[in-house]
Amino acid sequence: MSAASQPPTERPAWKALEAHYQSMQNRHLRQLFADDPERGERFAVEAAGVYLDYSKNRITDETIRLLVQLADECGLRDRIDAMFNGEKINVTERRAVLHTALRAPQRQSIVVNGEDVVPQVHAVLDKMADFSCRIRSGEWKGCTGKPARNIINIGIGGSELGPVMAYEALRYYSRRDLTFRFISNIDGTDFVEAMHGLDAEETLFIISSKSFVTLETMTNASTARDWVLKTLQHPGAISRHFVAVSTNVGKVVKFGIDAENVFGFWDWVGGRYSMDSAIGLSTMIAIGPENFRAMLDGFHQMDEHFRTAPFERNLPALMGLLGLWYNNFFGAQTVAVLPYERYLKRFPAYLQQLTMESNGKHVTLDGAEVVCQTGPIYWGEPGTNGQHSFYQLIHQGTKLIPCNFIGFSQPLNPLGRHHDLLMANLFAQAEALAFGKTPQEVSAEGIPAWQVPHRTFEGNRPSSTILLERLTPAALGKLVALYEHSVFTQGTIWKIDSFDQWGVELGKALAARIIPELEAGANCQLKHDSSTNALIRRYRRSRGLLQGS
Ligand code: F6P
Repeated sequence: MSAASQPPTERPAWKALEAHYQSMQNRHLRQLFADDPERGERFAVEAAGVYLDYSKNRITDETIRLLVQLADECGLRDRIDAMFNGEKINVTERRAVLHTALRAPQRQSIVVNGEDVVPQVHAVLDKMADFSCRIRSGEWKGCTGKPARNIINIGIGGSELGPVMAYEALRYYSRRDLTFRFISNIDGTDFVEAMHGLDAEETLFIISSKSFVTLETMTNASTARDWVLKTLQHPGAISRHFVAVSTNVGKVVKFGIDAENVFGFWDWVGGRYSMDSAIGLSTMIAIGPENFRAMLDGFHQMDEHFRTAPFERNLPALMGLLGLWYNNFFGAQTVAVLPYERYLKRFPAYLQQLTMESNGKHVTLDGAEVVCQTGPIYWGEPGTNGQHSFYQLIHQGTKLIPCNFIGFSQPLNPLGRHHDLLMANLFAQAEALAFGKTPQEVSAEGIPAWQVPHRTFEGNRPSSTILLERLTPAALGKLVALYEHSVFTQGTIWKIDSFDQWGVELGKALAARIIPELEAGANCQLKHDSSTNALIRRYRRSRGLLQGS
């Protein structure tokens, strides 16, 4: 077996980590902090204005040394270079992976298939900026002469989660006189509720789909087209009320949207890595081209840090390695992402696609079954709301749930003591998880003996805290890039393709088979398993298609 195809579990560093885990599994954070008064500052790193405190993790210097050694043995440095240089590291789709080119400054050159892609990226950004300014100034008019005030993004997965997350995250910077809504689900309720109360004359649809064949998006787009044509009864309705973002211009034009109203991107941008491409058109309209460019600059700063910093000082690499430590050695199944910032309310949902579609894989790059656990489950909710709901399980349950706390020093909406109270809660939760409360401490408070076990917190529950100055567009870019590259770090070590998503295909194919069975008349032969047949029959009966099924 060549060194490159060696499973990570065979690497010397992995073996050393297994032995090291034996000595770490019962060491308590209380002791680790007591042994090293400087720990809180030593296990912290700052880059591009992002401060990562990882001291409340169940690690020592030796853990970090071995994790970095593992990254080295698995060729992380070469893989980073391969990604940034446009090599086709998405092997199953034979594609380069170049979301980093989307935020490359104009002076840079990145060649893919013999072509420098940076000028193309900036040409699209300029076209987006021009269009956004026309919408924001009211110059872009609908077919009846009214300016577009309602911007509706139709898209799903990466063509929705990024735009909606960024819109919510940067709402503070957004134009409040424009309405932004997002339609993703094929459930008709999504369309009906999003369009409720909107005037077609003032509505612009952005159909966002890399492929322009996704069932949900194309169904919603057709419904939108029917709605506009029916409501406006105007021959110019489509060209003034629809634009598209896609790599598939042919399909867009076939749908009826003018070629000049298409904002392109490239097959080397994965859907879940595309919020900073033209898929971010709604974001740019909301916050303006200058803020959008500031966001790209934030992404780029984190890219450069990831590309150049030694792994022991490299935020994304460290985050990825710490995640791997819990996933593969402690057997943790999930990671909780807990932003103490209301504007980041969709950030956990966004991260779910980024992390789980990327690293939820069961075979390696060369098709062999993986020999260790891959991507953990990501979940979370903003700040203190979670404290009054699921934090109980994190504090006193039987599962180990590493947490990522995210906070900002400066509030965007200063309001009395609110921000101090919010951040006090963040710091307190991380502290409580790490150090807990011993039975002796509980008893010393005069708690009756029978209640002591219930009120004891064993602690030793790990967390990392990510602290930024203020939630700006640049800060959001840095945060997203931080997670993108930490996912990449893990995928590299697990030797999986973090950029394909074949696991979504089977369900799509089966749904395509079932659709006609739900819509067929009386005679319909079902050839599924007995459970699926019974469910379909029951549904058909309820819908009045009683016989023959
Ligand atoms: O089905 C999964 C997926 O392919 C995602 O990876 C992607 O972000 C989403 O569907 C939407 O795809 P598209 O942008 O091509 O409509």
